[in-house]
Amino acid sequence: MKTGFIGMGNMGSALAEAAIKTGAVLKGDTYGYAPHQDKLKERAKRIGFIPCSDPIEMVKECDNVMISCKPAQIPGVLNDEMKKALKGKHLISIAAGWFFDDYRKILGDDTRIQCINPNMAVKARCGIILIEEKGSFTEHEYEVLLRVLNSFSRTVVLPAELMDAGCAIAGCGPAYAAMFIEALADAGLKYGLKRDDAYTLAAAMLKGTGALCLDEGMLPAVLKDAVCSPGGTTIRGLSALEKTGFRGSVISAIDAVVKGEG
Ligand SMILES: NC(=O)c1ccc[n+]([C@@H]2O[C@H](COP(=O)([O-])OP(=O)(O)OC[C@H]3O[C@@H](n4cnc5c(N)ncnc54)[C@H](OP(=O)(O)O)[C@@H]3O)[C@@H](O)[C@H]2O)c1
Repeated sequence: MKTGFIGMGNMGSALAEAAIKTGAVLKGDTYGYAPHQDKLKERAKRIGFIPCSDPIEMVKECDNVMISCKPAQIPGVLNDEMKKALKGKHLISIAAGWFFDDYRKILGDDTRIQCINPNMAVKARCGIILIEEKGSFTEHEYEVLLRVLNSFSRTVVLPAELMDAGCAIAGCGPAYAAMFIEALADAGLKYGLKRDDAYTLAAAMLKGTGALCLDEGMLPAVLKDAVCSPGGTTIRGLSALEKTGFRGSVISAIDAVVKGEG
């Protein structure tokens, strides 16, 4: 099965690289198009996909087409010639704010459509990919897609109306988590830790905490209680976090993303 990426920027190339590295797709079956050919060829050399100069010819050659350009570019990309080339193909879109119903209005029923939304951690092959519940892949095609995505990420299926909230946590979350890592490292520095050591401690702690929740099935509340001993040091830190509104500020950040507040 050949897969062509329309747009090979940060996220398109992260997905292509992850799928190639895990062996879920073959280098020789992965194609990419982007307008700036020099940049595209450089990425192709590093990752191993085949660079293309004509998106229509690429789509004709492929079975699967990944829409990985910016959302605003999609109406221009889906011109009449492209719509014709996409007939009988599988379209997978990662564009924020574009859902199954939007594509079906443009492409009709002749193109199989599945919208997904990955986060930046696919680059490290431990990402989260949200999958829109509604789609027109057959059961078998959907299973094949899940197998590929699950080879380098976790997948969570959501209805279109919850994709924004899901993206606010999984897609925007890495920026907030990075800020938390930076803040912990700054505090470590204040008490004499070297910056590199402080980053390692904070980042590995976050990764390990995630693993306890995901791999060991620990609920966050159980984990928190297990680390806090009565009258101990951790509960004093928690109390200080609550005084400065830690939970409230995290929830406000998600409100700002989902409702456009702030
Ligand atoms: N970045 C994330 O964390 C993230 C997370 C989830 C979803 N997404 C989605 O992923 C998509 C790409 O985001 P990104 O961060 O990877 O953006 P990006 O780095 O700016 O990449 C955009 C790509 O689209 C190409 N492009 C520009 N005009 C085009 C056209 N007319 N036809 C085809 N390709 C065109 C660009 O090529 P040139 O470089 O040659 O201009 C570039 O390869 C967006 O829809 C976004 O919503 C991103």
